[in-house]
Amino acid sequence: MTQHLSSTQAIPEVSAIPRHVAIIMDGNGRWASKRMMPRVTGHTEGLAAVRKIVQECRRTGVEYLTIFAFSSENWRRPPEEVGFLMKLFLKSLKAEVSRLAENDICLRVIGDLSRFDNAIQEMVHFSAEKTAGCNALTITVAANYGGRWDILQAMSRCLAANPNLKPEDVSEDLLQPHLSMAYAPEPDLFIRTGGEQRISNFLLWQLAYTELYFTDVLWPDFDEVQLHKAFDWFSQRERRFGRTSAQLASQVMSDAV
Ligand code: IPE
Ligand code: IPE
Ligand code: MG
Repeated sequence: MTQHLSSTQAIPEVSAIPRHVAIIMDGNGRWASKRMMPRVTGHTEGLAAVRKIVQECRRTGVEYLTIFAFSSENWRRPPEEVGFLMKLFLKSLKAEVSRLAENDICLRVIGDLSRFDNAIQEMVHFSAEKTAGCNALTITVAANYGGRWDILQAMSRCLAANPNLKPEDVSEDLLQPHLSMAYAPEPDLFIRTGGEQRISNFLLWQLAYTELYFTDVLWPDFDEVQLHKAFDWFSQRERRFGRTSAQLASQVMSDAV
């Protein structure tokens, strides 16, 4: 497995199309309520938006797309809504996995899977196996995921792997391989739809130097045009990773000669 250096250890290469896009798909419930529909209809529509965004990421050469489908805090929702989301998750895995494989798209799920029922756990493993050799795009679905859970489970696994670890030897290098997304570079672009400007316990560690884009568009209305707006905004950012603007300008000059 490729080990990706973190942005606090090495300066990543930057391009106009983000290599890794991470999305909090928010606003499904409000989309439905505005139309006098039950909240769950918004989730079904949200799934259609996911399909469009996957296709566009595949077409434009995004290498990693990570989507927040269900947070560790979403269990607090009414049981009927949680039950609907679980069924939708299982149904969509079953319906999409062959098409993903045909399109050279790898599917991975991160989060604490132990709380899901067996049918979902089995389907998650089957989907991961079936698409394991695919390379064009890696979709990561965060399900029963929380950024704090991720850091804690990484620490536990790190201690289990290094039983004699001394406090002074704890390092990013040792922890990094145990984080759920160790297989991917850190996100370049984070998108949150639905108007809220918060992280809601998504990828806390990995978003250290990610560009954060917030839009009022509700997730079921987020389409290719909206995605390109986010890409355009992203391409205007000056990613300094701690350096000064003058340093970046002189790097551009020296690259040109
Ligand atoms: C996001 O939409 C989907 C999930 C959290 C599963 P919401 O369901 O949070 O929609 P709003 O924020 O209530 O409109
Ligand atoms: C974040 O959305 C989680 C997902 C999109 C899966 P929420 O709607 O649950 O976030 P909060 O509660 O508004 O912060
Ligand atoms: Mg919400």
